[in-house]
Amino acid sequence: MQAQIDQYTTEINTFLPANADELETFRIKFLGTKGIIKDLFEQFKTVGPEEKRTFGKVLNQFKQLAEAKYEELKEGLNSEIEHSKSEIDLTLPGDGFNIGSRHPLSLVRIEIIDIFKRLGFVVAEGPEIEDDWHNFSALNFPEEHPARDMQDTFFIKKNHGKDDIALRTHTSSVQVRMMEQGKPPFRAIMPGRVYRNEAISARAHCFFHQVEGLYVDENVSFSDLKQTLYHFVQELYGEGTKVRFRPSYFPFTEPSAEMDISCTICGGSGCNMCKYSGWVEILGCGMVDPNVLENCGIDSKKFTGFAFGMGIERITNLKYVIRDLRLFSENDVRFLKQFQTETI
Ligand code: DAH
Repeated sequence: MQAQIDQYTTEINTFLPANADELETFRIKFLGTKGIIKDLFEQFKTVGPEEKRTFGKVLNQFKQLAEAKYEELKEGLNSEIEHSKSEIDLTLPGDGFNIGSRHPLSLVRIEIIDIFKRLGFVVAEGPEIEDDWHNFSALNFPEEHPARDMQDTFFIKKNHGKDDIALRTHTSSVQVRMMEQGKPPFRAIMPGRVYRNEAISARAHCFFHQVEGLYVDENVSFSDLKQTLYHFVQELYGEGTKVRFRPSYFPFTEPSAEMDISCTICGGSGCNMCKYSGWVEILGCGMVDPNVLENCGIDSKKFTGFAFGMGIERITNLKYVIRDLRLFSENDVRFLKQFQTETI
């Protein structure tokens, strides 16, 4: 009997319940009406008077130990429950967390790329730091010609010559790299960031984003250009969006045009966005100048091509009516959050 009590004593001393259920099991096992202590007292009745004296004391101590342990553990568990109640309410639903959002310019860039991909265009990229040849000379900007002033350039190295280095002023430079490196046919769009030395305001920024397009093959005509861009506009702004081409000038295309679409805000009836004309300009385009093809090692007697270039900020403004260009680069989460599509 003594050995048994010693064993139970160790068990009680080391017992640590993880929850109220385990404590209740402990109570039933030792202190319950059919429990171990009850049983020990039953056995006690049968021992001789000599043993009764010693065991009576041992048994009473053991009973007290079990009761004290139970009370202590109950106390501990209750205060833990109380404490956790005041800290957290486990019945509340969890907090959803944000998974960030795509920048509006990225959303629009992805949309533009998707439309042209479906027409068989591939995506190409080029460096943001460019030499004079790729940004200007190969694109038929004559040296010292005022056409170079069309785009106020950030020069990194300037010697008024062929080895000038600058931040590219347009993505048309990627056309040159593409044509120099490969063989026609070319059918590519080239998204990227461009830089111009402009004072920052709501309507101008020193950097912005463009998507350039190039299609060179045998027998490419101006009507191919018109059809491609017409399709693009219907996809991007919806069926029924009107398109018009106005003659323009770019050194690298001949003939050149600017393309307007019916105002996406007022539908053509006239508003602030279209300056009450019903039309907004969205891109420049034209047939690749034969000089440009030759500069890139392409036989201009055999191949013709069209090219176009559009500003992503402008296209985005017409979709989301964002009136201040600075919002695109300030990274104010109150602005960016409005383009969030999902949370978890
Ligand atoms: N590079 C011109 C710009 O930055 C845009 C442009 C116009 C690109 C006509 C072209 C084009 O490819 O054919 O304003």
